[in-house]
Amino acid sequence: MHVAHLALTDFRSYDTVDLGLEPGVTAFVGPNGQGKTNLVEALGYVASQSSHRVATDGPLVRQGAARAIVRSVVVRDDRRALIELEINPGKANRARLNRSPVSRPRDVVGMLRTVLFAPEDLAMVKGDPGERRRYLDDLLVARAPRFAGVRADYDRVLKQRGALLRVAAQSRRGRGGRRAENDAAFAAAGAGDPLSTLEVWDAHLAKYGAELLAARLGLIEELRPLVASAYAALAPGSDAACLDYRGTLPEESEGTAREDLEGRIRAALLDVRTSELERGVTLVGPHRDDLFLGLGELPARGYASHGESWSFALALRLAAYDLLRSDGGDPVLILDDVFAELDSQRRRRLAEIVAPAEQVLITAAVAADVPAELIGARFDVTEGSVARVR
Ligand SMILES: Nc1ncnc2c1ncn2[C@@H]1O[C@H](COP(=O)(O)OP(=O)(O)O)[C@@H](O)[C@H]1O
Ligand SMILES: [Mg+2]
Repeated sequence: MHVAHLALTDFRSYDTVDLGLEPGVTAFVGPNGQGKTNLVEALGYVASQSSHRVATDGPLVRQGAARAIVRSVVVRDDRRALIELEINPGKANRARLNRSPVSRPRDVVGMLRTVLFAPEDLAMVKGDPGERRRYLDDLLVARAPRFAGVRADYDRVLKQRGALLRVAAQSRRGRGGRRAENDAAFAAAGAGDPLSTLEVWDAHLAKYGAELLAARLGLIEELRPLVASAYAALAPGSDAACLDYRGTLPEESEGTAREDLEGRIRAALLDVRTSELERGVTLVGPHRDDLFLGLGELPARGYASHGESWSFALALRLAAYDLLRSDGGDPVLILDDVFAELDSQRRRRLAEIVAPAEQVLITAAVAADVPAELIGARFDVTEGSVARVR
């Protein structure tokens, strides 16, 4: 698939911009702070309805404007789809597909598939578990958009269960555990009998949590060989890259089918109930899990060199690309300012791997950062104007 057209209104630094794009390689070149990443961020938003740079939509809207509009034409197997998104921070976004409104914006997630490489990717290797959970969950959503709903349901249950636990923790601490007052506090939180209310939330948490967990475990099985071979291609002769899931469920119990996991989460929640009631947080579930990245015998995090960490981050993205491609249809590859971060060997190898993709969009501060293998169309980006020069 490829993007044939991108038009922005009041998105980030742009009041309006309108670009025709083609399959093959396109580079956006210009000094820092001129709006290159803003362009590719908009495409990432069309794909996932989230930004790789910010957690909320507010910063995506141009300063002083009320809403942003992103229009794109996506071509897949000669079929064109016009996807229009209206981003309304703090309110519901709206989406249209081929000029007809869709009932939920989420319904157009996955119409465009992208794999975005960015300097922030290093955080997948060096950063907190949340970065790696996000990698997994974003990929689940890209492959099966209904996971956007599962993830949202899980987050909602987690929040509500957390509120209930906090009320419980507070009333235990503050009032010496006097039952009548605890109950009053629960009632104030919209809950009835505390423990039976908690059981209802346990059931919801286990249901959505098991769905997410089962999907993550299946995904890791598929990723494992792809990450290992992508890493070997980027850094030949080095230690093997491996993946493992580090979950919060007790290891001794077996069973990774969704139904097994649901029961295991419920059982684990009962085991930690006392600590949860003391601390006021949910201690078990996919929101506390981690994707372990290993190089040879050692964890990558805290041990890998800067270059190795980069190779690992690139390998995770390349593996995502392989998976999406094997589902059918070449996703659009976006390389945001990554070549400047790499030494010449990694640069060349990455260029060779991505060159055959149907569409590759690259941003770079200077043309010399774009490897010779990836010469194609070029736009110069300066002070918010985007001009085709080749
Ligand atoms: N919501 C916004 N409104 C106006 N300007 C913005 C907004 N968000 C970012 N910018 C501006 O966009 C510029 C950064 O653009 P970016 O695409 O990240 O640059 P680069 O070309 O280095 O990739 C900065 O000058 C920033 O001030
Ligand atoms: Mg940038």
